Amino acid sequence: MINYPRIIAHRCGGALAPENTLVGLRIAARMGCRGVEFDVMLTTDGVPILMHDETLARTTNGKGWVAARTAAEIARLDAGCKHHRAFAVEPAPTFHAALQLCAALGLWANVEIKPSAGTEAETGRIVAGAVAAHLAAQPGAALVLSSFSSLALQQAMQLAPAVPRALLTETIPADWREQLAAVGAQALHTAVQAVSPERLAPICNSGIRVACYTVNDRATADALFAAGVCAVFSDRIDLWRAEEM
Ligand code: G3P
Ligand code: MG
Repeated sequence: MINYPRIIAHRCGGALAPENTLVGLRIAARMGCRGVEFDVMLTTDGVPILMHDETLARTTNGKGWVAARTAAEIARLDAGCKHHRAFAVEPAPTFHAALQLCAALGLWANVEIKPSAGTEAETGRIVAGAVAAHLAAQPGAALVLSSFSSLALQQAMQLAPAVPRALLTETIPADWREQLAAVGAQALHTAVQAVSPERLAPICNSGIRVACYTVNDRATADALFAAGVCAVFSDRIDLWRAEEM
């Protein structure tokens, strides 16, 4: 069974840092988080980087499609200034750099494979290969791979079978058992709006771990834990004391 921390910092450092950045990982660790989640997408030259959107404008000082830029071009962008000028010049890191920092900080990591449209299998293959290489060098690293894309997760199942997988969904599908089995997933990561105690019970009772995104208040988190959810992704990691996370 996958060992989850209770509170997972969403997109590295939640609302306390620019999303999907190394400074976010450092802040999450400093706040006492044991686990982080981040999104991984490919550049046009096939380098996995931390990025949520397919376009650059919301989180960086760049424009256009992530999948149209090289890793060298992305590395020159500022991924901190849109959050706050105090974070200016913070780059969008490579996946490799994020994994290295998680290992150095002792952070459990949920790697969300976030393919640009049409690159599902390729992104899954490259991310899984990078994870397998990382685990060969850092055998103790605690990682879970997740994705909304079952194609990406199937690649992960083939190339890094020992790394636990979670299927990401916006709702709980009626055929959740079949969908999880198709990608060999031991966990379901689903939207908080999708869950109810009745929907959760059969899933949790079957041994599948359920984690919910995105939970930004304690009362909702407590109700989810009481209903059997094992972890929540949160932007508000400041709501919990270190010993509660
Ligand atoms: O992995 C949980 C959550 O991050 C999924 O939603 O859009 O924030 O990547 P999103
Ligand atoms: Mg995500």
